[in-house]
Amino acid sequence: DSKIYCVCRSPLGMSRGQILDEDISASSQWSDSTAAKYGRLDCEEGDGAWCPEIAGEPENMNEFLQIDLRSLHFITLVGTQGRHAGGIGNEFAQTYKIKYSRDGSRWISWRNRQGKEVIEGNRNAYDIVLKDMEPPIIARFVRFMPVIDHSMNVCMRVELYGCEWLDGLVSYNSPLGQQMTLNGQHVHLNDSVYDGAMKGLGQLTDGMCGLDDFTHSHVYNVWPGYDYVGWSNESFPNGYVEIMFEFDRTRNFTTMKVHCNNMFSRRVKTFQKVVCYFRSELDWEATPISFSPVMDDVNPSARFVTVSLYNHMASAIKCQYYFSDIWMMFSEITFQSGDDPTHKVDDSNTRILIGCLVAIIFILVAIIVIILWRQVWQKMLEKVSRRMLDDELTASLSIQSETFTYNNNNSPSSVPSEQESNSTYERIFPLGPDYQEPSRLVPSTNTASKSTPASVQEGVPHYAEADIVNLQGVTGGNTYAVSALTMDLLSGKDVAVEEFPRKLLTFKEKLGEGQFGEVHLCEAEGMQDFMDEEFSFDVIENQTVLVAVKMLRADANKNARNDFLKEIKIMSRLKDPNIIRLLAVCMSSDPLCMITEYMENGDLNQFLSRHEPEGMIALLSNAPTVSYSNLHHMATQIASGMKYLSSLNFVHRDLATRNCLVGKNYTIKIADFGMSRNLYSGDYYRIQGRAVLPIRWMSWESILLGKFTTSSDVWAFGVTLWEMLTFCKEQPYSQLSDEQVIENTGEFFRDQRRQIYLPQPPMCPDPVYKLMLSCWNRNTKERPSFQEIHHTLLDCKP
Ligand SMILES: *[C@@H]1O[C@H](CO)[C@@H](O)[C@H](O)[C@H]1NC(C)=O
Ligand SMILES: *[C@@H]1O[C@H](CO)[C@@H](O)[C@H](O)[C@H]1NC(C)=O
Ligand SMILES: *[C@@H]1O[C@H](CO)[C@@H](O)[C@H](O)[C@H]1NC(C)=O
Repeated sequence: DSKIYCVCRSPLGMSRGQILDEDISASSQWSDSTAAKYGRLDCEEGDGAWCPEIAGEPENMNEFLQIDLRSLHFITLVGTQGRHAGGIGNEFAQTYKIKYSRDGSRWISWRNRQGKEVIEGNRNAYDIVLKDMEPPIIARFVRFMPVIDHSMNVCMRVELYGCEWLDGLVSYNSPLGQQMTLNGQHVHLNDSVYDGAMKGLGQLTDGMCGLDDFTHSHVYNVWPGYDYVGWSNESFPNGYVEIMFEFDRTRNFTTMKVHCNNMFSRRVKTFQKVVCYFRSELDWEATPISFSPVMDDVNPSARFVTVSLYNHMASAIKCQYYFSDIWMMFSEITFQSGDDPTHKVDDSNTRILIGCLVAIIFILVAIIVIILWRQVWQKMLEKVSRRMLDDELTASLSIQSETFTYNNNNSPSSVPSEQESNSTYERIFPLGPDYQEPSRLVPSTNTASKSTPASVQEGVPHYAEADIVNLQGVTGGNTYAVSALTMDLLSGKDVAVEEFPRKLLTFKEKLGEGQFGEVHLCEAEGMQDFMDEEFSFDVIENQTVLVAVKMLRADANKNARNDFLKEIKIMSRLKDPNIIRLLAVCMSSDPLCMITEYMENGDLNQFLSRHEPEGMIALLSNAPTVSYSNLHHMATQIASGMKYLSSLNFVHRDLATRNCLVGKNYTIKIADFGMSRNLYSGDYYRIQGRAVLPIRWMSWESILLGKFTTSSDVWAFGVTLWEMLTFCKEQPYSQLSDEQVIENTGEFFRDQRRQIYLPQPPMCPDPVYKLMLSCWNRNTKERPSFQEIHHTLLDCKP
């Protein structure tokens, strides 16, 4: 095979540890547990991967994971993987770029042979995706640069594959390759992957030898002549082409091999003579060496011409290659120096042999350990599921409820080890013959997730439950749960919320209260100055507007104050027509206040309770009505607002009609202060005095595993939709007690068709009920996204 680098594809030591922690660095890290050193392929230390701290706008972000290989390496393949962390993580780089450097100062962007910089990366958090470097990289430093956008948090684990670059060649400089016209066809003999201006490496060192017929190439979809750099004697009156080679240090050179085309029928021939000059230290040696190969007019195949360099010591070599016909074409030039290990072949073979034996022993031991471990594991799993099946749900819930302080560090961590152990075992040879299909290497993932509830969560990219900033909120309401990473994304810019003069607020009524504060409904004067054009149009000049004022008691502790500030930060970033906006704050004196929009018709629950569907009852009772199409319009707006929140990776955690506000013309804005209001205390379930939870709106996995994701918001959306279609005349599952609701949750988990679904409301069309049922799918992945929900609702518009 003329692709000489087929033999140069060994892992360089990210996963096995030959690359030391100190040689792995990064532009930033999200936390100590996601530092650069955890970016090792197939390793699960720390939080399972390197994750950059994302601050500022994604467009101008240059986050990277950098590996210092300590010497020049020939890199033929790279592997990437996301953060799986045994099922908790779901971050990966869908695309990334690579930069490399030979000296640590000049950085070069890698491009493939078609000139494309961006590399397709991972599609999920666990599979390893290997990419051939075409052309290969010759470098000491390599940077992986995830392409970051708003849709997803990114974490990476990586490996480099290749071998040490023993040539020591750092750069070459040759005259520009030329263009030949052959039967009217252009043959481009330029050095298309040369990575420098005057000093660089390119096609002559890319490890790829050209074919006998220079008009063809190994490489798919390139122009004729791609493999070769070639020159015509007409441009070189001296009769030779001079190429200068520079090396990393002074070396003792034995040979140079030049891969030449010899298609003499096309007037292409190997060089007839070469003269090489050597430079050690600063001076060029006076006497060059000269060599004339035997000309071959019989065999037209391309070949390596070996030139002896007679143990000259040099750090640079300049060679003049003399034409023997009109054209001269090279595809590869390599150098062998005396102090490289090629002459220690026996020695290294022995080492390889010993290495292999040790590896085999390790594998055997690992297999035995895995088998034993699996047996133990199987037993534990059986125990756990038996316990779940026993009527101990209530008991296990109270254990689980520890996690409802929203710090679920420990919730599912123990479960997925089976899959880890399996995959390690199956991935011992990542470079087996079928490496192009790395997903086949981890078949255990799916089976594991079927048998264990903890790995079910695979919804929206969500940084980690463990990192959710606790925004239990001053009023006891749980404001949006935000991954800490998103928080930082949000804090990139300074918060631009203006101070509002407190005296312009007039108290109207108390909407709710919590441990550290209260929510008041107020009238505000002059608020239009604080509103953007986009939503002040319906406010008449100099009129008062209704606002909700959330205030922190002066005696609140420091944590509550911090949470309040975080909440302001988050709220100030949310800009969507269907999400309540933060208008202003009062921060200059205590009590601290945040002023948000309030809508004249109050919350959707009260609003619908006051109304009736169009029909007989309404006619008889003379009650105000809401038509089905308006109901549908409101539901669509909720879906749209949630679509926006989910696009930012926000998890609401308490979506319900009580948290949606109704304005003029059935406009809806999603808010969040449900829990703080006594009116709705019946909607929340208090577990052992620890937390209050809206269990009737919560997905089974939120209740049993403490997992809150966009998929669990989707579940709550289904319940919200149901509330709307029943005009909020009754609580969801009103015939069940809280305990029975939790039991029902257990049935969802067990999935033996004993779970009870909310019934189809009389006025609910079949497609909408189908949508609801899909929101309550046991499998989070099979629930629709808010985007899909929004789309579906638009499609079935009455
Ligand atoms: C080499 O020639 C091809 C074909 O004309 C062209 O597309 C390519 O950009 C050239 N590359 C360089 C580095 O000049
Ligand atoms: C270069 O290597 C050859 C063969 O290994 C050795 O004989 C010679 O002494 C070396 N030259 C220098 C200057 O070290
Ligand atoms: C190029 O090479 C051909 C064949 O050897 C020769 O006839 C011709 O004179 C050469 N042209 C120049 C400019 O040296």
